[in-house]
Amino acid sequence: MAKQSKKQDQNTNNDPNTTGHVWDGIEEFNNPLPRWWLWTLYACIIWAVIYSIAYPAWPGIKSATPGLLGWSSRGDVAADIAAAEAANQGINDKLVAADIVSITDNQELAGYAKTAGAAVFLTWCAQCHGSGAAGAKGYPNLLDNDWLWGGDIEAVHTTISHGIRDETDDDTRFSQMPAFGEILEPAEIEQVANYVISLTGTPPDAQMAAAGETVFMDNCAACHTEDGTGDREFGAPNLADAIWLYGGDFDTVKQTITNSRFGVMPAWSGRLTEAQVRAVATYVHQLGGGE
Ligand code: HEC
Ligand code: HEC
Repeated sequence: MAKQSKKQDQNTNNDPNTTGHVWDGIEEFNNPLPRWWLWTLYACIIWAVIYSIAYPAWPGIKSATPGLLGWSSRGDVAADIAAAEAANQGINDKLVAADIVSITDNQELAGYAKTAGAAVFLTWCAQCHGSGAAGAKGYPNLLDNDWLWGGDIEAVHTTISHGIRDETDDDTRFSQMPAFGEILEPAEIEQVANYVISLTGTPPDAQMAAAGETVFMDNCAACHTEDGTGDREFGAPNLADAIWLYGGDFDTVKQTITNSRFGVMPAWSGRLTEAQVRAVATYVHQLGGGE
C-alpha cells in the first residue's frame, strides 16, 4: 500500500505546467498568483506601513510608538468628557449660582441635579453608603429621616463639602465621644449600656439599667441629651429611636461605650466640583429623608 501511494505522488506525465505534486491522481498547476490578489496584498502591506507610522503601533518597553497623528483612545475619551462638560456648562453654572435652598423649587435645576447627583453618588459614595444609599454598619443610611448632623439641604451640603472628622479639611464636622473604658468602672459601663438599651427595648438587666440612668446623666447627656435623642451639634446619634449606626445589641453598645468610635467621611469639596457637590446633595436630600 505504502509503496503504491509513493508512486502516486510522482508526476507521471512530466507536464511542465504542473508543480510536480500529485495526490490521489490530482496534479497541481504551476500558475502565477492572480493579479487582483497580488495587488491586494501589496496594498495591504503599504497600508500597514502607513498605519503603523500614523497611529500607535510598535510596542516599546513602557508604551507603544505614539504615531504621527497623536491619536490615543484615552484622548478620545477625554475629548468626549470635555464635550459633555461643555454641553452641561450652562446648567452647572446655574446650579452653582442658585441659592441652595431654592434648587428643589426649580424644576429644571432639580431634575438635572437629581440625575447628575445619582451618577456622582454611584461613583463616589456607594462604596460606603451602598448603591441604594441604605448604608451599613458605621455608614449611615441616607434614606431615612434620622440624621446625625442635619437633614436640610444646607446641612447635607455642608456635610458633603467638608466631610466628618476629615482632618485634611479645616471646616470638617468634628466631635469625639470619649472611650469610657478609660473613664468609668466596668460595672458603670454595664449599667449605662443596659440603660441605653432600655431607651428603646428591654435591657438584659433591668436593675443595672436603673442604676445606669445616673451614669448616663453625668457622662452622656451632654452630647446625647438627657432624653437620649441626640444632638446634631456634636453628630451624637439619637439613642432613643431604635436606629443604630453601629448596632443596638448589648455587646455592640458596650463596645461603643468602652472604645468609642471615630466615623470618618471624607471631605468632597476638593475632589468634586461645586456643581457636583450641589447635585449629589440635592440627590441625597430628595432620597426620602430630606428635611
Ligand atoms: C469612606 C467612606 C465614605 C464615603 C466614600 C462617603 N461617605 Fe458619607 N459618611 C461616611 C461615614 C462614616 C459617615 C458617618 C460619620 C459619623 O459617624 O458621623 C457619613 C455620613 C454622611 C452624611 C451625614 C449623614 C447624617 O446622618 O448626618 C451624608 C449626608 C453623607 N455621608 C453623604 C455622602 C455622599 C454624598 C458621599 C459621596 C460624595 C459620601 N457620603 C461618601 C462615610 C463615607
Ligand atoms: C462628646 C460627646 C459624646 C459623649 C460625652 C458621649 N457620646 Fe456617645 N456618641 C457621640 C458621637 C459623636 C457618636 C457617633 C460616633 C461616630 O459615629 O463615630 C456617639 C455614638 C454613640 C453610640 C452609638 C450609637 C449607634 O447608633 O450605634 C452609643 C451607644 C453611644 N454613643 C453611647 C454613649 C454613652 C452611653 C455615653 C456616656 C457614657 C456617651 N455615648 C457619651 C458623642 C458622645
